[in-house]
Amino acid sequence: MAEIYAVASGKGGVGKSTVTAGLSKELSALGKRVLAVDCDIGLRSLDLLLHCDGQVVFDWGDCVCGRCAAQRAVISGDVDFIAAPRSFEPAFTPDSLGAVLDEISAGYDYIFLDAPAGIGTGFRIAAGCADKMLAVTTADNICVRSCAAACSEAERLGIKDCRLIINMFEIRPAVKKKLLNLDECIDETQTQLIGVVPFDRVLAFASVTGLEPDEFGPSVQAFHRIAERITGKKVEIICE
Ligand SMILES: Nc1ncnc2c1ncn2[C@@H]1O[C@H](COP(=O)(O)OP(=O)(O)O)[C@@H](O)[C@H]1O
Ligand SMILES: [Mg+2]
Repeated sequence: MAEIYAVASGKGGVGKSTVTAGLSKELSALGKRVLAVDCDIGLRSLDLLLHCDGQVVFDWGDCVCGRCAAQRAVISGDVDFIAAPRSFEPAFTPDSLGAVLDEISAGYDYIFLDAPAGIGTGFRIAAGCADKMLAVTTADNICVRSCAAACSEAERLGIKDCRLIINMFEIRPAVKKKLLNLDECIDETQTQLIGVVPFDRVLAFASVTGLEPDEFGPSVQAFHRIAERITGKKVEIICE
């Protein structure tokens, strides 16, 4: 049975979808069967990051509303993918998405639910279907405070295992000293750190240039280490 992770943050633009794509690819490279589900209703982007935007015919909303079977909405690849609905319908609830996932989860080791920003309906749908959460933040007060709110809300919804990912971390000393340090991010969110992903220029421009960071790129290395930790391997947390 799959472990189901919501990837959430509070604020938008901190890298939830990038983290979802990066970790999904690395877990797949480790031989795991991975399904990534875009839960950002109306603002989907994970199809672009997984390079299957041209293949989307059905989304999970079609499954919830009985327009197609769960399996038909899955786009197969190294990482399997289900797109987010284009608009919200009242039938979209944690139970209805959960029922779709129940039909297909046996085929996977990990399912990642890429949540929308905020702690509203879309977040509650993703969190309500998940056993665990990865809370993504950048190292600044505004995003960390929002991330702390998302972690609290996840706990209230019954998610007991929530881990923090600090994304776009700056190692250049002149920039680093203007940001929160790792301990401050951990203290404010009261959430255990699972990894730090550095700011990666190639990643920042990837959707425009079409260039992906190679396997030795700093972000890919970080995603690889987090993926290993998710599988239970003891890997030192480093920020480089
Ligand atoms: N580690 C990183 N280094 C550089 N740019 C990043 C990094 N993570 C994400 N980005 C960029 O930040 C932008 C927002 O990322 P995205 O994953 O869409 O955020 P969210 O899903 O939280 O709204 C994208 O342009 C993405 O390429
Ligand atoms: Mg996103």
